[in-house]
Amino acid sequence: WPQFHQLPPLRPPGTSRRIPHTIIIGVRKGGTRALLEMLDVHPNIVVAATEVHFFDWDENYVKGIDWYRGLMPFSYENQITIEKTPGYFTSPQAPERIHDMNSSIKLLLILRDPTERVISDYTQVYYNRLESHKPVQLFEDIVIKNGALNTKYKAIQRSLYDIHMERWLKHFHLNQIHIVDGNTLIKDPLPELQKVERFLNLPSRIMSSNFYFNQTKGFYCIRSDGRERCLHESKGRPHPVVNSTVLEQLYSYFREHNANFYRMINHSFDWH
Ligand code: A3P
Repeated sequence: WPQFHQLPPLRPPGTSRRIPHTIIIGVRKGGTRALLEMLDVHPNIVVAATEVHFFDWDENYVKGIDWYRGLMPFSYENQITIEKTPGYFTSPQAPERIHDMNSSIKLLLILRDPTERVISDYTQVYYNRLESHKPVQLFEDIVIKNGALNTKYKAIQRSLYDIHMERWLKHFHLNQIHIVDGNTLIKDPLPELQKVERFLNLPSRIMSSNFYFNQTKGFYCIRSDGRERCLHESKGRPHPVVNSTVLEQLYSYFREHNANFYRMINHSFDWH
């Protein structure tokens, strides 16, 4: 007899696997997991469990669209499928490839203050390296090289939102890309999620009772279908205290890029 775990998952009658109607394209450390899990509360939304990396990793892209569809969850006709892969936002190939699949797709992009994002990115790599017993460096030692800002540092490059957005706007109309304010999603998730419901033309189903603030975690957690859950412990880790001169250097480096980004999207954020 085959082992239970070897059996393919049963397809509930009336469902099928569908390519995404909406993709959360990033940004890494913007709050992409929180956004996906919070949207999953909606009865008309089903989400892909893992990051698929179809459009940004060549070795997956060559497997073709049926492989991609096979990774999507089963959904009913009245449900939309959402996948999130934060690497898409900074990938040179992703915009064109996604456009080739569905030129009228809806995209969600969750952003937070670019300096905060760099520190969050550093913190994630720091813990990953600790766990695999690799040497770690102080934030300041990576960010400053020979007395100047190390603008080649990948985490800094990923926070140049204007540069990445320009590529997306070559393929998509601005009204196909909804930007979620990651700083607001942390402090008060419901209004940001209601904006997403409107963008996706879904009935308003996400309620304030779907969230509760967990004092120990210091973040909102999710209540749905009679269950309560917080995000994984790797989400919402304390950040290192960064030298104030280094912080100022980062703020001033991003300032022009942010202004450029605000012009592109006709909207501004209260980032440093
Ligand atoms: P930090 O861990 O640096 O605080 P992503 O899922 O894209 O990797 O983003 C991770 C970030 O999501 C976390 O960064 C955290 O600030 C943010 N976040 C937003 N809402 C959250 C929530 N309810 N619980 C945990 N983290 C949340």
